[in-house]
Amino acid sequence: MELATAPLTEAWVRASCRSLEAARHPMLARRTRREIYDDGRWMAPGGLLLAERLADALQLQPGDRVLDIGCGRGQSTVFFAANCGANVISLDLWIPAPERLAAAAIAGVADRVTALQGDIARGVPVEAGSLDAIVCLQAFHCFGTARWLLRYLTSLLKPGGRLAIAQGCFSQENEEFPPLFRATDGWNAEYDRYHSPGWWRRHFEVNGPLAVRVAMEVPDGDVLWEDDVLYRGDRAGWSPQFLEHSGWLIRQIVHGRTAQPSLTHCLVMGEKVTGLRTDGSGSAERGDPS
Ligand SMILES: C[S@@+](CC[C@H](N)C(=O)[O-])C[C@H]1O[C@@H](n2cnc3c(N)ncnc32)[C@H](O)[C@@H]1O
Repeated sequence: MELATAPLTEAWVRASCRSLEAARHPMLARRTRREIYDDGRWMAPGGLLLAERLADALQLQPGDRVLDIGCGRGQSTVFFAANCGANVISLDLWIPAPERLAAAAIAGVADRVTALQGDIARGVPVEAGSLDAIVCLQAFHCFGTARWLLRYLTSLLKPGGRLAIAQGCFSQENEEFPPLFRATDGWNAEYDRYHSPGWWRRHFEVNGPLAVRVAMEVPDGDVLWEDDVLYRGDRAGWSPQFLEHSGWLIRQIVHGRTAQPSLTHCLVMGEKVTGLRTDGSGSAERGDPS
């Protein structure tokens, strides 16, 4: 049956989506899915699994000064403060700062968290050259395709400071999106800003400019989407409302198992190295950033 029109059922989704395996993701042996996905309060797939991958890539040290942009409800901020001892400036547009400070207090790390609410495009009260790291989970596509913004973020890093993102992306660049990818529940998935790990690499190199140390598809990056669907379906009791509300995204995820565009996740990290030149010719939105 046509994927775009096949009626969605719990059985069909279960047969179409894979779970993450503990053998490949050790955190699953240490924490429950409820902990990893914060009882469904993360806004996007991956939860603590992606936060841990970012922390590992960055090798954050106690006392590091970190800006966490688009941190949503602040689970990543709390993770970096609690697990790495980082001092985290937690910035989000939609979620009020007191909610994130409360989460930090519950975790016992309120003294290491500064919570701000605002738009990164309007700047943050942080001196140039003062950050050890900037991190962004599942949000960089919202603002980070703009050349000037990448340059601004790079200016906030110390020499040797790193910018790292982990988020949904496509496994390769796509010029065309089939009609299936235009379906939505009204939320704008912003697929024109999703890009591939290679696109993000060039964007960082050309427009940071940053020396890219990592630009990869996260292992099982596609399964992260599927596992999230299974978790959210279980939480919702596979109600008709869940299937109707999430059906468009489930179809897009399943489409990607056999065809392009294929949704996955990337991890990209660049380091501020003195002497790198920006050529200033990068495209701000579509296509090849160089
Ligand atoms: C898909 S949610 C991800 C949130 C969180 N990182 C997570 O994984 O649950 C994207 C987040 O980016 C934030 N955001 C979008 N545009 C932003 C901007 N211009 N400045 C700061 N935050 C922004 C939104 O408020 C939202 O919380």
